[in-house]
Amino acid sequence: MYRTDYCGTLTKNDIGRTVRVCGWVQKQRDLGALIFVDLRDRTGIVQLAFDVNANSKEVFDLAFGVRSETVVAATGVVRSRGEGAINHDRATGEIEIEVKDFEVLSTAETPPFEIVENSDVREELRFRYRYLDLRRPDIQRNIIERHKIVKLARDFFSDNGFLEIETPILIKSTPEGARDYLVPSRVHPGHFYALPQSPQIYKQILMLSGYDRYMQVAKCFRDEDLRADRQPEFTQLDLEMSFVTQDDVMDINERFLAFLFDKYLGQKLELPLLRLPYEEAMARFGSDKPDMRYEMELCDLSETVRDCGFSVFSSTVQGGGAVYGMCVKGGAETYSRKEIDRLTEFAKTYKARGLAYSRLTEEPTSSFAKFLTDAEYAAVLEKLGAEKGDLVLIVADAKLRVAQTALGAVRCHVAEKLGLCDPKKFALLWVTDFPMFEYSEEEDRYIAMHHPFTAPRDEDLPYLTSDPARVYAKAYDIVINGNEAGGGSERIHRRDVQAQVFSALGISDEEANEKFGFLLEAFRYGAPPHAGLAFGVDRLVALLLGLDAIRDCIAFPKMQNAMELMSAAPGTVPQKALDELSIALNLKADE
Ligand code: AMO
Repeated sequence: MYRTDYCGTLTKNDIGRTVRVCGWVQKQRDLGALIFVDLRDRTGIVQLAFDVNANSKEVFDLAFGVRSETVVAATGVVRSRGEGAINHDRATGEIEIEVKDFEVLSTAETPPFEIVENSDVREELRFRYRYLDLRRPDIQRNIIERHKIVKLARDFFSDNGFLEIETPILIKSTPEGARDYLVPSRVHPGHFYALPQSPQIYKQILMLSGYDRYMQVAKCFRDEDLRADRQPEFTQLDLEMSFVTQDDVMDINERFLAFLFDKYLGQKLELPLLRLPYEEAMARFGSDKPDMRYEMELCDLSETVRDCGFSVFSSTVQGGGAVYGMCVKGGAETYSRKEIDRLTEFAKTYKARGLAYSRLTEEPTSSFAKFLTDAEYAAVLEKLGAEKGDLVLIVADAKLRVAQTALGAVRCHVAEKLGLCDPKKFALLWVTDFPMFEYSEEEDRYIAMHHPFTAPRDEDLPYLTSDPARVYAKAYDIVINGNEAGGGSERIHRRDVQAQVFSALGISDEEANEKFGFLLEAFRYGAPPHAGLAFGVDRLVALLLGLDAIRDCIAFPKMQNAMELMSAAPGTVPQKALDELSIALNLKADE
């Protein structure tokens, strides 16, 4: 047998056994007549013990010369370390291996950084040498835990009658709204495949073909700017069901989450999860993915200040805008003037024009109280429930959404500073009834908030073409601790409704046919009502593991500039390859 045991699994129950372990040398300690080598594999570290009087010269010399990251195999007997030598920080800390035979399988150069947990090595270096970074126990743990979480997901959906079906990677463009990654076709010069932004169209086709209850762990590709929770290449746990409504999809998915939380975290989720309509989420939390681990709700002050003496507030409301406020309990002392200035700058990055405040300290200070009568000011404080010691923050804006989202972002910022975001606590909810369309200033037209196959609410059908802004969709997101962990919708299965949606989106018949004619055609041959959802696997794993960034649970992630530093992708290709693809480059001088 090449090896009998993993390093990290040996315990005092193994004392007396002869074992053979393999792995990487973490560290060697030379005490003269004794040498200790820490041997590491993906399960942990075990101590190998060498003794000049017991080992052959050959074995002892090998142990003497061995360097970190050398790959070795050791055969020996597991023995107790004895009281004084126990290492309580290590699972194998009570035992060591009295080595009889030792073999160097492959030597290692000095690595550019030490392979240790929670290293503070520069990211560029970590990702340039990702194969070494992946040896670090914390990263290995993330990758291994990811496997377990995905396995539980597959088990749950398989047990509930879902079929895992692979959909293609080289496809025609899918309509998820981000930019596509394109792949040129050699056989069809001037033609391109797109990499899927999601399996959306294919999973709908599978419903039309009768494969009721589909699931897939699917790679998705979106050429968009990276953030801590976004990668250009990411994974979805994607699913679709036939003969269901949105409630059925939400129901089975929250049962899945309860299963996952139970099996993986040992935590019970209260079902059904809270369902918050989008408008209510925006009004109470200033976000369509509210973090419900803490309260600190926003408050619509518009009517309270409509006729007040502070024209920034009153004229905003009278002009059709909104004034939203928030009370930070006990926040008056935590936030100095300087810090409020910083918070104001932060609010401005969310398009707020400013942030009015009152610090209700012993000697209160306020940026707006002086413009209000005592009664008006008292009414504002009362509406917010603000008392001595609290901090009041207010945003007024001509646009309702700007007032809400800017203050919503401030809410998260403040919660972070006050330490309200307990990573061990989980707050889950559904946000439902999203607007069907959002107006794109850039494109000067309505675009689909989810995607153009999302079904409008039945009661809003009459307004599809006359007043798209008041149409809400049967769309839902699953939100965990302020993160969108997944989203989905009930789909349109009636051709007349689909045509009206395309018309509201300004998509002509020709364009619809060109883009997704095959789906529309498929609908002509009998379409079951269907609905689905996709979780972001990377996000779900990062949330369950309490990671700040999804790249830490992805084996080979991309960096900020969408580069994969280890292989240096993307790279150039030989002219011959371009010629075969009939591609001529048109680079600017500095490129
Ligand atoms: P959506 O675009 O909301 O829906 O994506 C579903 C989930 O995928 C995750 N996600 C991402 N994760 C990492 N990096 C990214 N760039 C990224 N983009 C999205 C999020 C998100 O909630 N086809 C629909 C689903 C459906 O309607 O069934 C879709 O793709 O967690």
